[in-house]
Amino acid sequence: MSKHAITLKVNGASYDLVVASNKTLLEVLRDQLNMPETKYGCGTGECGACSVLVEGDVAINSCLTLAATMDGREITTAAGLQQNGELHPVQQAFIDHSAVQCGYCTPGMVVKGVSLLAKNPNPTEQEIREGLEGSICRCTGYVKIVEAVDAAGKAMAVAAD
Ligand code: FES
Ligand code: FES
Repeated sequence: MSKHAITLKVNGASYDLVVASNKTLLEVLRDQLNMPETKYGCGTGECGACSVLVEGDVAINSCLTLAATMDGREITTAAGLQQNGELHPVQQAFIDHSAVQCGYCTPGMVVKGVSLLAKNPNPTEQEIREGLEGSICRCTGYVKIVEAVDAAGKAMAVAAD
């Protein structure tokens, strides 16, 4: 298996890594960088549990992304969303709206919510549901997750005024 020397910027820190050509970004985050907040669900692009942000606001499935292709890119995991000890508004809204049960889907859902609001700061309920498409929650029934993303968008709009 060939190896590649790459540099990843993850949650603001830069990492020089050697990765096998078949290693996914998810495997590198979890196993080489010891960042377990990004979850392995299906490994086949079906559940969204492994979602991370590239270049700040583009959500990707890290289980389908070869780490070697991410050389030089900036990755943000759910744990990297907080700033100066303050939760990101989407993280806070998930807490405030009880949008978490077992929590397994939550990092991916939060990441997808951040990505959605970056593109569409004032989404309708339908647009939120479409924005979260590809992310599966087996616990909450989605209603509270949709409410949380909606509330986060409104809170971010107020903060930006
Ligand atoms: S683990 Fe990546 S989509 Fe399910
Ligand atoms: S809270 Fe359990 S899978 Fe979503």
